[in-house]
Parts: sequence; structure tokens; C-alpha cells
Amino acid sequence: MQPRKQTPRLVRARVREHKALRGDYRFLALEFQAIGSLAQPGQFVHLRAPQLAARVLRRPFSIYSAKGNRLGILYKTVGQGTRALAEVAVGERVDVMGPLGRGFPTDRTGIVPVLVAGGYGVAPLSFLAGRLRVRGVVFVGGASARDVVLCVEDFRKLGWEVRTATEDGSRGIKGLITAPLDAWARKNRSQPLEFFACGPDGLLEAVGRLAAKGRWKAWLSLDKHMGCGLGACLACVQKVRDASGKETWARVCRDGPVFEAAEIVW
Ligand SMILES: Cc1cc2nc3c(=O)[nH]c(=O)nc-3n(C[C@H](O)[C@H](O)[C@H](O)COP(=O)(O)OP(=O)(O)OC[C@H]3O[C@@H](n4cnc5c(N)ncnc54)[C@H](O)[C@@H]3O)c2cc1C
Ligand code: FES
Repeated sequence: MQPRKQTPRLVRARVREHKALRGDYRFLALEFQAIGSLAQPGQFVHLRAPQLAARVLRRPFSIYSAKGNRLGILYKTVGQGTRALAEVAVGERVDVMGPLGRGFPTDRTGIVPVLVAGGYGVAPLSFLAGRLRVRGVVFVGGASARDVVLCVEDFRKLGWEVRTATEDGSRGIKGLITAPLDAWARKNRSQPLEFFACGPDGLLEAVGRLAAKGRWKAWLSLDKHMGCGLGACLACVQKVRDASGKETWARVCRDGPVFEAAEIVW
């Protein structure tokens, strides 16, 4: 587990850019002091838009980019919180808490990294792709072409090989991304693979199983509904196994969102 911990900041960050992207996603860039050096891939920010103030809970978003004083997120409008965020204008201020949680390890060497993304899972993995010391392969899956267009060029520019699969066959291999991933891992079974995944639970569980079968390590970023984001409310608990093998509960916001696959009890 990534040991890095730091004191999160609570700031009113100014919106510097906000635009629609392909595939129903939006990109939001916030000015956030010294974030570039603080944020780790896999960490998240907990946001409250002014339009969302009446609804108490913040919403968590993975950090997609962090450079200098700018922090970027990619989000999909799915409910009232993200709809409110979509209304925020450039120049307005957004209430941000972060960076929060434990991210992916970025100091791994002697491995062939395999990134596996479903949906907005591409956001933290794109950030990670630029921070890892070695390059490898990225597998991106989604329901249709609209879900797998995001970040593909980012990965390629950074020197990663990209493979895609869509359930309707509109881009890449038809079906779930786990099928080409399994086939590729079988062909490369003698390699020191290490998996880094972010997406829905089914995908994470499959990546964890694959890693266990090949005795590889896998790092999974869990997606849980959150309340406080700081470890106080227990809204985000996940059953885990500690170092002695005993089952216990972890708080995804504070102990994660990234866990080693062997720790998770599904
Ligand atoms: C660590 C973390 C990182 C995240 N990063 C991103 C990101 O980079 N980009 C992005 O678009 N979204 C991300 N999310 C999910 C994002 O927080 C939810 O989409 C958002 O909370 C939905 O808020 P809403 O008010 O629009 O929807 P709501 O009105 O609260 O819910 C709309 C629908 O979405 C479902 N939902 C809400 N939250 C989640 C969730 N966490 N997981 C699965 N389903 C959910 C609800 O059950 C409901 O069906 C992340 C979540 C976590 C926990
Ligand atoms: S969101 Fe409150 S403990 Fe995790």
C-alpha cells in the first residue's frame, strides 16, 4: 500500500478552464496553490460547487492532471452533483478539499506496467502513465466508442501501447476488456507484469483474480460513495484482509482509494 500521507488542504479554487470533451465528459481545471508537487496519481479531490451548496455532500473526483498551480479533473454528468458542477463558469470559485487518500505507487522499477481502465478510470491512470518510471500497455474498456475515446491520445503521446474493447464493438475488440487482457497476459506470462486498475468493481475483481493467478501484483482504485472524505463517517467502508490475513474494514477515502488486490475481500 502506498504509504505516502499528507495533510489535505481546504481551498476555494478558481476555475481556470471548463470545457466539454468527447464522450459526454467535461474537463475542469482549477487554480490550486502548489498542487503540482503535492498530488499523487490515484489521489482525489472532494469538491463542492457553489451551485451544490444546498446539498451537503461533496463529490470525489480523481486527479487527472496536476502541474504548477493547476489541477484538472475529468468528469461525466450522471446526477445532481455533477450537473451542478457542469454549470460552474470560468472565474468562479469552487470549494476543494485535497489531495486526499493514498494513490498508486509511482516508484516501481523492473516491472512491465499494465494499466486497466473502465469509464472515468482513465483519468487517474492517465496521470499515472506520465509519472511511472517505465512504460507498458494500457487496456481501456467501455460500453461503446464514446466511452473509450478519452485519454487514448494522452497515453500514446506518453509512449504507451493502447488496446481498446467496447461491448457493442464500435471501437477495438467487441466485448469486455478483460478478454483481450487475459489473452495478452497469457502470452506474456513470463514477464514481470504489474497491474494498475481503475473502473467498476467487476473489472477490478477480474484484474485482481488475473494477477493472483499469475502471482503478479495488482493495485486497484476502488470507487465507493463517499461522505466526509476524511475517514470520519464510515460511508465508504470496504472489507479487507490485513497483513496477518485477518478480515477487517478499511475506509476507502483514507486508507485507499488504491489498495493492493491481495488486500481486498470481495
Ligand atoms: C475516489 C473516487 C474518484 C472518482 N473520480 C471520478 C472521476 O474522475 N470522474 C468522474 O466522472 N467521477 C468520478 N467519481 C465518481 C463521482 O464522484 C460520482 O460520479 C459523483 O459522486 C456522482 O455525483 P452526482 O451528484 O452527479 O450523482 P448522484 O446524484 O449522487 O448519483 C447519480 C448516480 O450515480 C451513482 N453514483 C454516485 N456516486 C458514485 C460512485 N462513487 N460510484 C458509482 N456510482 C456512483 C448513484 O448511485 C446514482 O445512481 C469518483 C468517485 C470516487 C469514489
Ligand atoms: S467518506 Fe467518510 S469515512 Fe470515508
